[in-house]
Order: sequence, then structure tokens, then C-alpha cells
Amino acid sequence: MSLPHHPGPAPTGMGRGGGNPQMRGFARDRSVSRRRLSRATLRRILTFARPHRRALAVFLVLITLEAGAGALPPLLFKHLIDDGITQGDTRLVVLIAVAVAALAVLSAGLAVADRWVSSRIGEGLILDLRTAVFDHVQRMPLAFFSRTRTGALVQRLNGDVLGAQQAFTSTLQNVVSNALTVVFVLAAMLSMSWRLTLLSLILLPLFVLPARWFGPRIAAVTHESYELNAQAAQTMQERFNVAGAHLVKVFGDPERESAAYAEQASRVRDIGVKRALYGTWFRVGLTTLAAIATAIVYGLGGLAAIQGELTVGVVVALASYLGRLYGPLTAMSNVQVDVMTALVSFERVLEVLDLEPTVTDAPDAHNLRNDVAARGASVELDAVGFRYPTADEVSLASLESVATLRADTAEDTLGDVSFTVPAGHLVALVGPSGAGKTTISQLVTRMYDPTRGSVRIAGADLRGVTLDSLRATVGVVSQEAHLFHDTIAGNLRFARPDATDADLERALRQAHVWELVMRLPDGLETVVGDRGYRLSGGERQRLAIARLLLKAPDVVVLDEATAHLDSESEAAVQAALDEALVGRTSLVIAHRLSTVRRADSIVVVDRGRVVEHGTHAELVARGGLYADLYRTQFAADTVDAA
Ligand SMILES: Nc1ncnc2c1ncn2[C@@H]1O[C@H](COP(=O)(O)OP(=O)(O)OP(=O)(O)O)[C@@H](O)[C@H]1O
Ligand SMILES: [Mg+2]
Repeated sequence: MSLPHHPGPAPTGMGRGGGNPQMRGFARDRSVSRRRLSRATLRRILTFARPHRRALAVFLVLITLEAGAGALPPLLFKHLIDDGITQGDTRLVVLIAVAVAALAVLSAGLAVADRWVSSRIGEGLILDLRTAVFDHVQRMPLAFFSRTRTGALVQRLNGDVLGAQQAFTSTLQNVVSNALTVVFVLAAMLSMSWRLTLLSLILLPLFVLPARWFGPRIAAVTHESYELNAQAAQTMQERFNVAGAHLVKVFGDPERESAAYAEQASRVRDIGVKRALYGTWFRVGLTTLAAIATAIVYGLGGLAAIQGELTVGVVVALASYLGRLYGPLTAMSNVQVDVMTALVSFERVLEVLDLEPTVTDAPDAHNLRNDVAARGASVELDAVGFRYPTADEVSLASLESVATLRADTAEDTLGDVSFTVPAGHLVALVGPSGAGKTTISQLVTRMYDPTRGSVRIAGADLRGVTLDSLRATVGVVSQEAHLFHDTIAGNLRFARPDATDADLERALRQAHVWELVMRLPDGLETVVGDRGYRLSGGERQRLAIARLLLKAPDVVVLDEATAHLDSESEAAVQAALDEALVGRTSLVIAHRLSTVRRADSIVVVDRGRVVEHGTHAELVARGGLYADLYRTQFAADTVDAA
């Protein structure tokens, strides 16, 4: 989304030097200045500054020198006029003029040096925070991701990290350099003429008060425009991705869609006009008042000079100082908002870092590979009960959409599930939709820990083994068989980064997709995934099986696609599975008759409980739930098979 002159939806993402500095201060939400940060939070923020403390010290020295150099020229001009021009001292005039020029060059050098140091601190801090958040978030349990809005999370990774960085660079710089400038300039002015200084400051309230009035209004308008822009962007994103565009084409009404979008966009326009107007009022006010104050200094100062109370040099110097005073003073009136905005961003980043991952290595976790080598990879569920964690157990209120904030009184999804898959056997899980089959498979891969009972592989409770060794032991093909937006080779190597091309070919051949991959325009280098080459459901499953084969796990957990494949892909997937599962301990969530037929035994689940257990023949003979499912769910397959 890019309607002209609107920055992205992240108010904190604005860089230093973007637009008028005073305006930028106002673009913040003033309500933050009422927030309180705990002492502990402040202390932690300082720990992030610690690695940069030497650079920060250099930075402060540079800012001080810069403010000093900026406050000198009017003083020099005073001497130039009073002691040079008036006294007819040519040498002094030239000398001072050269000194002023040299000072200008020095200031420029200081500005560059200071920017260099501050950007090194700022970017270094962004790097520290980003890597810390990324590293932490990817260790969060699956439950966290299923509850968290991805958009909010990405915003946290980007916007707030930038905002936090500002605490150390632009905000620190603005505060320190404005404060120093005000002090230096006022001291110089008072030393020359305290009366005229006080007189010229009379206008200051006239300026600061309206600035404080404009502040919240500009902030509100800015905030609203971000919101509107974000909404419009959201609409575009939703409508213009393939699935959304398809939906609009099938069900939508282009006229209605366009009208709704035009409505949104015209609100953006109205707000944009309002913003521009407020900004102009503010700038015009600033310039006018500064000009009036300068006129007062020249007027009153001129009179005093005629009386001989002041020298001409002092009058000129005072007027020129005045121009350097108003900007920093007004900026200081908003300093609290700036500082708090930056600190609150910081706090929000810390909040993410403080989330405790629930599924982690126990301190005494051992290597599951040893158990598997010694005892074979059996899978055992022992009196397992499970309920999905509620939002407040796994996520952050500020990362959730409002809708999920209700206190879930979650019911148990699984109650007392027990069964064993002996090493090398194939057990099929069967049951109606929503029975808890996928949930069971996620406990075996330890996406979640059971609430009661235990899940064991090779006799070892999963809570006591390392996550690395568990990942190396168990391979998964999930219901949707997700592929990243990457090449086929890249997707396969995600399971084993060191796989050679020959390894890839072997896996693809075993999964019966080699021919298909070779027919693609770029072969192994064909980009697949959301915006890449569109594979059919069956093809995706077979690629996922190839990915699994590459890893060669001892235990395979497979969630068959619920969508029915056409009989040709179905046959290809079956053939792929025949090779993939041989000699492995397999837990297969079966939606197809051919799979259940091959299973050594079948576990039938219903509403989170095991209701039947046996072979296909036994269960059909029993005439229970399985026999029902056989007649309904698998009926289509029976026709196919015949
Ligand atoms: N992340 C989650 N948070 C809360 N509840 C969930 C979550 N995932 C699934 N559930 C609920 O748990 C129950 C079991 O879901 P599960 O996905 O295990 O069913 P399933 O047997 O795999 O069904 P299907 O055959 O349709 O895939 C359902 O009632 C579902 O709504
Ligand atoms: Mg499922």
C-alpha cells in the first residue's frame, strides 16, 4: 500500500532527520508519557546499552562539542562588529571571519562523526535486539504461534526494535543536544544583556502553549492515518493474494469491493489534508513568532544602542541567538513523549523476550538416539490426557487479537489415551473429524506436552530427552504438507542441509516424484510454495514424503491429506508411502482405505478417547464405530478399489 506521503503503519519506524524535528515529536502518542516503567525494566534497558558504553561516551562528548560549536558564532560576530568594524581593525575582522568559517567546517566534521558513532550504536542495538527476539521466538512452542497474530509479531520484530533503538540514538541525541544548546545560548545571552534576554523570552509562552495544544491533535490525526493506511493495506493484501482473489471472483461483487476501497482511500485523503494543514499552521506559527521576537530584539536593542546602553554587536548577537533558542525550547517541551515512546517500545521487546518457552530441554535431558539404538523405536502413549493451553498460558495479551482474549475454559481434547506402536509396526489412527487424531500426532512430535500421562519413544518419556535427538528420531508429513517459498532443493535440504544432489535424487525417486521434478522448467531449482510453482495436493504430499525420506527417521508420523486425491495421484502417493514406511515405526492418521488395510493394527478414536483397537477384519466384524466409518468415510475408496 502506498498512497503518497504516508509512511508505513509503524509510527516508531521513522528515521532520524525525517521531516521537521518538532513535527516528528508531535507525531507520537502523548498518552505514553503517563506510562510508568518499573525500575527493573529500566535496569534491563541499561544492560542493552552496556556493550556500547564506550561508543556512548564518545557520542556524548561529540554532541557537547557540537552544541558548543553551534553556540559560538554569534559571540564571534559581536567581537567582529564591536572590536573590528567599529574600531576599524582590519586584521581582527579577517581573523574572526576566518575563525567563523573554520568553526563551520569543524561543526560539519563533528556532525558527520557524531552521526557515524550514533548510527553504529543504533544499528548495533537493532542487531542485538533483532537476533535476540528471533532466536527466542523460534524456540516458542507451537501453541504460541497458533495463538499469535503473525502481523503483530512481525511488527514487534521490526517496529518496536526500531523504536527501542531510538531511545539510544535520536532521542538521546535530541534531549542532550537541545538541552545543551538551550543552556549555552541562554548563558551567552544573559551574559550580554539580561534585560533584553528576558524581554525577548516574553514571547516564549505564546509559542510553547499552542505547541502543546497542537501536539495531541497532530498525534491523533497521525495515529488515525496510520490506522487507516494499515486497514487499506490489509484489504489489499487479503483481496490480492491468490486465495482471496479467487474468492472475490467467485462470490464477490467488483463494484462493491471498489466502492468499499474507494471509501477507505478517501478517508485517507481527508486525514492527509488535515495533517498537512495542522503541520503548516504549526510551522508558520513558529516562523512568525521567531520573526516577531527578532523584531523586538532589534527594536528595543536598537533603541538601547542609540542610548549607548548596548553595543551594535550585542544587539546583532542577541538577535541571532534568539533564532537558535526557539527550536530547541519547543522540542524540549515534548521531550517526555519522545523518551517514553522509545522506552515503551523497548519494554514491548523485553516482553517478548520474557515469554517462557514451555517445551524445552530438561536440565538432565538425554539423547533419545541411544534408547532407540538399544531398544528399537516403539511409540507408546500411556494414559495420556491433554487440553490445549489457553491464550494467557502461552502468549502475550498485546500480541493477540482481541477476540482470543476471553478466558478460555478449555475442555480436555484428549482423555486417557493409551496404545502402543511396536518398533517397525504401522498403526493407523482412525476417527471422525475433530476426534483428536492430529492432536495425538502432535504429542508424539512433542509440539505439546501431555497434561496427564506420558508419551514414550523407545521407553523414554519425551519430556526427558533432548529436542535435537527427538527431531532426529521422528519425521513428520503433516496434513497440509507445507512447503516454503523456496526451490525444491531448498525445501528438501531443510530436513538435511548436508544432503548431496544424489541424495535428493534418491529421495525423490523413492517418493515417486523424480519424473515430475525433472519435467519442471528448472528441475530441482524450481521455486515452489505460496507464490511459486503450484503443485497439486498429491504432488505436495510426495515432495513432503521425499523430505521425510531424506531425513531417514526411525519413527514416522503421517497425517494423510483429508482432501481426496484423484486416483492417479493417490496411487503415486501410496507407492511413495510403501517405500517410505517400510522398516519404520509408523503412526498414520488414515483417511484412505488402502492405508488402513496395510496397517498392523488400527486405533479408533472418538471425542478424544480410544474406542476400538484391532485389525481391519476384527473391527469390521465387530460392527462398531470403525464398521460405520468403513461404510461412510471409506466408501468412496471401496468403489475406487473395485
Ligand atoms: N491449537 C488448538 N487450540 C485449541 N483447540 C484445538 C487446537 N487444535 C485443535 N483443537 C481442537 O481439538 C479437537 C481435536 O482436533 P484435531 O485436529 O486433533 O482433530 P482431527 O481428529 O485431526 O480431525 P480431522 O480429521 O478433521 O483432521 C478439535 O475439537 C479442535 O477444535
Ligand atoms: Mg487432523
